[in-house]
Amino acid sequence: MAKMWEGRFGKETDLLVNDFNSSIRFDCRLYEEDIKGSMAHAKMLGKQGIIEQKEADAILAGLADILSDIQEGKISFSLEYEDIHMNIEKLLTERIGDAGKRLHTARSRNDQVALDMRLYVKKEIDEIRELVFGFMEALCEKAKKNLDTVMPGYTHLQRAQPVTFAHYMMAYANMLKRDITRLTDCKERMDEMPLGSGALASTTHPIDRKMVAAELGFASVTDNSLDGVSDRDYCIELLSALSILMMHLSRLSEEIIAWCSWEFKFVELDDAYSTGSSIMPQKKNPDVCELIRGKTGRVYGSLTTLLTMLKGLPLAYNKDMQEDKEAVFDAIDTVKQCLEVFTPMFETMELLGENMKKAASRGFINATDCADYLAKKGVPFRDAYKITGSLVGECIQRGKTLEELTLEEFKEFSPIFEEDVYHAIDLMTCVSERKVLGGPAPQEVARQIQAIENFIKENQ
Ligand code: ARG
Repeated sequence: MAKMWEGRFGKETDLLVNDFNSSIRFDCRLYEEDIKGSMAHAKMLGKQGIIEQKEADAILAGLADILSDIQEGKISFSLEYEDIHMNIEKLLTERIGDAGKRLHTARSRNDQVALDMRLYVKKEIDEIRELVFGFMEALCEKAKKNLDTVMPGYTHLQRAQPVTFAHYMMAYANMLKRDITRLTDCKERMDEMPLGSGALASTTHPIDRKMVAAELGFASVTDNSLDGVSDRDYCIELLSALSILMMHLSRLSEEIIAWCSWEFKFVELDDAYSTGSSIMPQKKNPDVCELIRGKTGRVYGSLTTLLTMLKGLPLAYNKDMQEDKEAVFDAIDTVKQCLEVFTPMFETMELLGENMKKAASRGFINATDCADYLAKKGVPFRDAYKITGSLVGECIQRGKTLEELTLEEFKEFSPIFEEDVYHAIDLMTCVSERKVLGGPAPQEVARQIQAIENFIKENQ
């Protein structure tokens, strides 16, 4: 079959090469971006008198028809025409004749693919942001209902100090807030239109790049044609933002996996979001969380693919760059799928507050508060720390918690202890007195929730 480049060649492409070279299997998803980009280009060619207006009109009508035919599933692309760009150009020429052959004036597939990818990434960033906002809202909702749900906070996975489930969830909401700003930042920086860079050295035709940019909703145009065709920084930025986002989802997944084990039993996943075992009848597994944790590696893999693919490339376009697509597409698909399933799984997750409280009441998580009690009565903190440490040692020996000690027992360690120590080390006091900015006190976490809700409102 005749290739678009047939003029120079004396032989047909080997079938293996044909297959190997072709990207239509995966870049067919760029059909809409490709057609919209070509429409803007054709309009500009017509307006600038580079092609006749009636030819531009024929191209626009032909492309509109092709778009609706693709959307209606009437078109099957051909491996023969290598990629989405040549497939569509070929279809257009078959339909409208010579005018179709003029579409590629002042353009190369190199700047064409650069444009398509930018259009696609911009659109996907918006969709991912929406999904992240949806999850942030779910976190705020859970937090609002659990301002008083005391649970142990951990360091080194050892019970450390009491927090609340609301406080815990708002930690994740703040991570997601940063994810949103990273995605927004990436989109702002990449909002430049590359068409007009040509193959690498622009064109001698009197094109109007700014018109094309305005037509397609870009903020500006790329400033150097070599860079315009070879820049994939925005793909790397996107994949690194997505990797960090997945890392956050993976950490929360890990927590939920632990929390639904019998060792913790802090939460119960809804049956609709859990799976069973083929042999063990008692099992209810958190597969969704485990898959999210697992798929995080896959997104990191895409980031590594791009970084490695680009590191040795001379300017300008090299065919290696065709490999950017599957990495970017797979990362985007994976992140969207994870967010789509994680949000309802999280929303339907039942909290077992009594178990959280029970866990919080064992493990001496109010020991810091006991030391602070003495420090507030004038004992230097280092001495207060030591006294409390000895108290904890004694409690372990006697199988008691701090609040189970009698006042006499307290006084054996320091005469400063009075009846009010019981109030000071009460779990709820430990939480509600931590009302400094960022702390777990209910009214402070309510402020944190409000801050995230305002962020969502202002940025959505
Ligand atoms: N399919 C190619 C890609 O995805 C389009 C650009 C091809 N340009 C070229 N000169 N071979 O990168």
